[in-house]
Amino acid sequence: MASAFLTNCWYVAAWPEDITRTPLRRVFLDQPVVLFRLQDGTAVALADSCPHRFVPLSRGQLVGDEIECCYHGLRFDAAGACTLNPHGDGTIPRTAKVRAYDLVERHGMVWIWMGDAAADPARIPEIAIPNFPALGERDKYGAVAGVLHIAANFQLITDNLLDLSHAQYLHPGLRVANAQRMRHEMRHEGNEIFSDFWRDNGEPNGLMRLLGWPVGVNGDSRANMHWYPPSLLVLDVGATGVGRPVHEGVIAPSLHMLTPETEKSTHYFFAFLRLVGLEDAALQEKVRALGMQAFAMEDKPVIEAQQAQLGDTEIMSLGPTLLSPDAAGVRARRVLQSLLAAEAKAAS
Ligand code: FES
Ligand SMILES: [Fe+2]
Repeated sequence: MASAFLTNCWYVAAWPEDITRTPLRRVFLDQPVVLFRLQDGTAVALADSCPHRFVPLSRGQLVGDEIECCYHGLRFDAAGACTLNPHGDGTIPRTAKVRAYDLVERHGMVWIWMGDAAADPARIPEIAIPNFPALGERDKYGAVAGVLHIAANFQLITDNLLDLSHAQYLHPGLRVANAQRMRHEMRHEGNEIFSDFWRDNGEPNGLMRLLGWPVGVNGDSRANMHWYPPSLLVLDVGATGVGRPVHEGVIAPSLHMLTPETEKSTHYFFAFLRLVGLEDAALQEKVRALGMQAFAMEDKPVIEAQQAQLGDTEIMSLGPTLLSPDAAGVRARRVLQSLLAAEAKAAS
């Protein structure tokens, strides 16, 4: 499998609440990172490897705004500079430093820049969802958010998300009943891809019913995915009266942010958003249960089995059967390939 990570771009590293005064280790793009907060709340990311004996710094502890290695006590500041050598005459060895990664908190998430080029915060996508408040304003919507670990390459998950025709088969709780034949439209604007699915004049799924759609009433259901390279997906899911404009109906968008851990594993950050029943703890739990059933119990095992079956073989090299909804996933791979080629060219 070719190493295929775009590095000069932003990935989601964590939900803000994941990063605390206890060092947290996460591997991104095959690089171990330790995340923690300074006393003033600023989030910090350092290479999670002590330059002395290469023990993870995340096994150590914070001392004020510095992290102290658990093994022989070297200390490092937020910039990755060694500030204390408790051995010999205390001289700081020239090699005693670790890489610091750029972090930015935006849209209610913490983003990390893993590449060697200068980090540019302007390149964090402006995530906009039709008929929905700005993402950073969490109190305006009920978010069920979390992160799943998936033992599969991020592009297999991207394929899954760009081809939501699978929901009808793999996710009983998200099935639309008695709808007309699914319609699918793929389009792209620059490097962004839209993969839109409609099931018209059928009974909307269990999520729509949880959010107020009346039982036994038909509507037009949609699941419109918007992909930003390399692996950020925004899903506008909803149902509206047959033939009626979408803003009249139920809306339940969700975010799917894939950060590669290794070639064969991915941090899958997700959030299901809603505008109704924000104070309703029972509803919150039902939305969480429905989402977890679909993602953790239904998608995850299938994608992991697919990865296990493929092993080191890249899926497109096998000449897979392609169905009409695959157009978006195929296009996304092409966009990614061209961005990777451009990044490699710029680096050489
Ligand atoms: S391994 Fe970190 S101080 Fe020795
Ligand atoms: Fe799914």
